[in-house]
Amino acid sequence: MAAKKPWGGRFAKATERVVEEFTESISFDHVLYAYDIQGSIAHCRMLARQKIIPAAESRKIIKGLQQIKREIEAGTLELGMEFEDIHMRIEARLIEKIGPVGGKLHTARSRNDQVALDVTLYLRDAVLDTLACIDAVQSGLLALAEKYKDVILPGFTHLQHAQPVLFAHHMMAYFEMLKRDRERMESCYSRVNRMPLGASALAGTPYPIDREYVAGLLGFPEVTANSMDTVGDRDTLLEFCSSAALIMMHLSRLCEELIVWSSSEFNFIEIGDAFCTGSSIMPQKKNPDVPELIRGKTGRVYGNLMSLLTLMKSLPLAYNRDLQEDKIALFDSVETTRSCLRVLAAMLPEVQVRADSMSAAVQEGFLTATDLADYLAARGVPFRDAHEIVGRVVSYCVKQDKKLEDLTLEELQQYSPVIKKDVLKCLTVAASVNSRTCTGGTGGQAVRKALRRAHAVLKKGRVFIAREESRKKTSME
Ligand code: ARG
Repeated sequence: MAAKKPWGGRFAKATERVVEEFTESISFDHVLYAYDIQGSIAHCRMLARQKIIPAAESRKIIKGLQQIKREIEAGTLELGMEFEDIHMRIEARLIEKIGPVGGKLHTARSRNDQVALDVTLYLRDAVLDTLACIDAVQSGLLALAEKYKDVILPGFTHLQHAQPVLFAHHMMAYFEMLKRDRERMESCYSRVNRMPLGASALAGTPYPIDREYVAGLLGFPEVTANSMDTVGDRDTLLEFCSSAALIMMHLSRLCEELIVWSSSEFNFIEIGDAFCTGSSIMPQKKNPDVPELIRGKTGRVYGNLMSLLTLMKSLPLAYNRDLQEDKIALFDSVETTRSCLRVLAAMLPEVQVRADSMSAAVQEGFLTATDLADYLAARGVPFRDAHEIVGRVVSYCVKQDKKLEDLTLEELQQYSPVIKKDVLKCLTVAASVNSRTCTGGTGGQAVRKALRRAHAVLKKGRVFIAREESRKKTSME
C-alpha cells in the first residue's frame, strides 16, 4: 500500500509502486536526518518568535522533533522508500506523534530550501572534517621527512634518474600539494557558510520570516541573496567535489610512488604488515593494497565531479527534480575522500625507509652530471658548451663502465682545460644536494627552512578549523 502523500491533495490516484521506487531518495538522503531536525528546530523557533505560529505549538513541535531524532538513532523508525525522502518521513512521523499541529512546521518553507539547508549543514561539517583529515596526512608526511631528514635518493624525471634529492624534500612536495588542497577547501568553506532557508519554493515567502535570526541560530554569518539561485544552485557541492578530485589526484600520485618504491626492484621502503595484505594463492606475497585502493578510488571521485557538472548543465531555474541526484555524487566524494585521507594518515607512520637502498640507487645514473656542467659554467664555459662536454664525459663513462666519481682528475681534464682539482668534491651526491640552497631547492638548509615553515602552516590550518568549529556552534546546542 502506498503511504498517504503530504502533497496528495491534488491527486485522484495513488502513486504507482514503480514510480515510488524510481523517485525515492530516502535510501541515500537518510544520512541528513540530524541536519534536517536541526534546521527544522531553528525554523520552528523563528516561526514562534515572529508570531507566525503560537509559542506553545512551537514547543510541542520541537519536542516531537527531538524525540524523532532519538527514534532514528535507536533504529526504531521505519525509513521505507514509500516515504519518498527523509524530510517527508520526519514530517509524517511528527504529525503522527503530535497530531495536526505538526503540519504547521512546514509553514513558510518548501522542501526545496529545506533540502538546500540540510545539505549546506552537512557540507559545512564535511569541509571542516576533510580539513582535519588533510592535516593528519600532512603531519604524517612532515614526520617522515623529519625522521629521515638526511637520506638522499635519486630524484626522477621521465622515471629516469635525474638528480639527487633529499627524501625530506620529496615528502614535502606532497605536503605542498595538500597545502593547496587545504586552501581550496578553506575558500570553499566561506561560500558554503551561507544560510539558504527562506527562499521557499523559489520566490521567497509572504510570511514575516526572519532569515537572519535562523542564520544566527545555526551559526551562519550570512544568508543567501537570491531565492531562485538558492534553490537551484549546487556550486558549493561542485567546489567540494572538484577540490576532492584534486586531493585524490595528489594522493594517488603519492600512492603510486609508495607502490613502486615498495617493489623489490626499487626496495626503497617497506610498508608495515598491518597495512598490507597477502595473496590467496602465492604465499610469499605482501601486497600494498591500501595505496592501490586509494589510487583506484580516485576514479570514483573524478566520476562524481563529472556527474555533478553534467547534472547541472543547462538546468533552467529554479528547482528541478534532477537536483535530487546531487547527493549521491556529493556523499560518495565526501566519504571516499575522507576514508582515503584517514587510512593514509594511519599508514604513513608505518612506512620504513630503506636508506641503504636509496643510497645505493643514488650511485647509479650519473646523477651529478648537471653539477659538472654547472662547475664548467661557473668557470666561464657557456652552459650549452658545458652540457655538450659533460655529455661526452658521460658517454666515456658508459663505455668504460665507470661512475663520474671514479674518474681521475687527468681523465676529466682531457675534456676541458678549466677543470681543476676542486672538481672532485663537487661530483659527490652530498655536494650536489647541498649546493641547491635556493629557496624551494633540495639543499639541506633550504629543506630545514621548509620543514620549519610546514609546522607554521599546520598551526595556521588548525586555528582555522578551531575558529570555524566554534563559530558554527549553534546557540541551540
Ligand atoms: N528529495 C528531494 C531532493 O532531494 C526533495 C525535494 C523535492 N522537491 C520537490 N519540489 N519535489 O531534491
